Order: sequence, then C-alpha cells, then structure tokens
Amino acid sequence: MQSASPDTIKAWVQQARHVAVLTGAGISAESGVPTFRDAQTGYWAQFRPEDMATEAGFRAHPQRVWDWYQYRRELLAGALPNAGHMALAAFQQQFPGRITLITQNVDGLHQRAGSTGVLCLHGDIFEDRWLDMPRNCCHVEHAVAGHPPHCDRCGNLLRPGVVWFGEALPFRTLEAAQQAAKACDLMLVVGTAGAVYPAAGLAHQARAAGARVVVVNPAPSELDGTAHAVLSAPAAQVLPTLLG
Ligand code: APR
Repeated sequence: MQSASPDTIKAWVQQARHVAVLTGAGISAESGVPTFRDAQTGYWAQFRPEDMATEAGFRAHPQRVWDWYQYRRELLAGALPNAGHMALAAFQQQFPGRITLITQNVDGLHQRAGSTGVLCLHGDIFEDRWLDMPRNCCHVEHAVAGHPPHCDRCGNLLRPGVVWFGEALPFRTLEAAQQAAKACDLMLVVGTAGAVYPAAGLAHQARAAGARVVVVNPAPSELDGTAHAVLSAPAAQVLPTLLG
C-alpha cells in the first residue's frame, strides 16, 4: 500500500470518470445500527446468528428466526442515514452516472439517503420472499399473518429477502457489481472488514483492472494490502470531505 493525503485522494475522486463504492456495516455504524453480531443482546444473546441466518436454521425454527428478523427490522426503523450515506447520495445527484454504489448492507439506509440503483449484494431485510418456489396460490399480499406469515392454501412460508450463509448472491446484481469493479477508475471501499467473499473480491478485481483503490475504515481491514491508500477515519467524517 502506498500512502496518499486526503487532498490527493480528493483529487483522485475529482479526476475519476467512474467511481465504484463498496460499503459494509461500518458505514452504518454512525447511524447506530448494530451489526448482526452486536444486535445479540437480551433474549437474543442465547442464539448464535450464524445458526439462524441459514436456510436450515429457518426451517428448523421458523418462528424464532422470523421474530429475530422482526426485532432487527425494528432496530433499523429507528435509525437514520448519516453524513456518509448522504454524501454518497449527493455525489450521485450532482454527477449522475459517475458512481456505482455497491453495498453488503441490508439496512436500506443508502436508499433512504436518496441513492438510487444501489446494488444490494446481500439483499434487503425489508423485503420478504417465499421460502419454497411459489405456487399459483402464493401471493405476498394474500399471505396470512403468523410467525412467519404463510400461504393459507399450501403453507409456504415467507422469509426475509436477505442472502443467508451458504446461499448464492443475486446473480445479476453481482454481475453488475463486477462490471463496475472492472470499469471504474477509482474504488472506495468503505466500512467493511473485507472478510466476506465474493463482495471483498470486487476490490481485488478493481485493482487488477487498473483502478485506484482507497479504503475508508478507522480500523485495519483485510483489504488494506490491496489499496493504494487507507484513510483511517470514520466514514461519516471522511466521505463529506472526499466527495464534497
Ligand atoms: N466508518 C467506517 N468503517 C467503520 C466504522 C466507521 N464509522 N465503524 C466500524 N467500521 C468498520 C470496522 O472497522 C470493520 O472493519 O466496519 C467494518 C465492519 O465489519 P463487519 O461487521 O465484518 O461488516 P462487513 O464487512 O460489512 O460484513 C460483511 O458479513 O456479517 C456478514 O452478511 C454480513 O454483509 C455482511 C458481511
């Protein structure tokens, strides 16, 4: 990794024809959103998220897993986008077509800040979908209440529209993210530990294709070695300056 001053990185942003941004849980930290491990308090502390965020966990304990996601949805409903989310949305509004925003977050805060076309690699916690292939009788608006809601004809269960451990990422979304990684001149990697693939691989792809890569993270991340520069500061502090 080479080092570069914030002013130099700001100049890279200004020069870039196409900026790809990969965000993770850290960008929502200053909105008070706990990561799913940090959300394990009180009643939920007795369960391991890794055991619940899987299809097998849901099939074994549908009520428990559904209620856990409802609890996390309620936590998120009280959170607001922060200055980092807002700076990304403002940049997109000012320079339409110059930014591709890719997120691993399922919290919807980029969209609530006003970003559009966000590539949500790990789904959206506020969307539901059917657990099993829907039949003609399965319509979300006809699902009957329960924990989880289900089709009153065939019993198919609704599940949160997130990517669980062991599941494939949405194919077209991943493909669009990979294209952006290959086509960008600059990739900002914001608030991710860089430990989960294929998301973290986007930074390697961008670098291999000739883009500059900048990590924004107050703590060391696994992508620091791939980056041309690391800004060791909170996203809500750095992004408004960098993109302003
Ligand atoms: N600004 C920027 N980065 C921050 C901030 C902040 N204010 N606060 C914390 N961070 C950094 C941490 O230092 C850490 O590197 O955010 C990162 C969060 O790491 P993780 O919790 O592992 O989140 P993420 O990398 O998004 O996880 C990827 O793994 O848990 C699964 O599917 C889940 O999408 C998630 C994926």
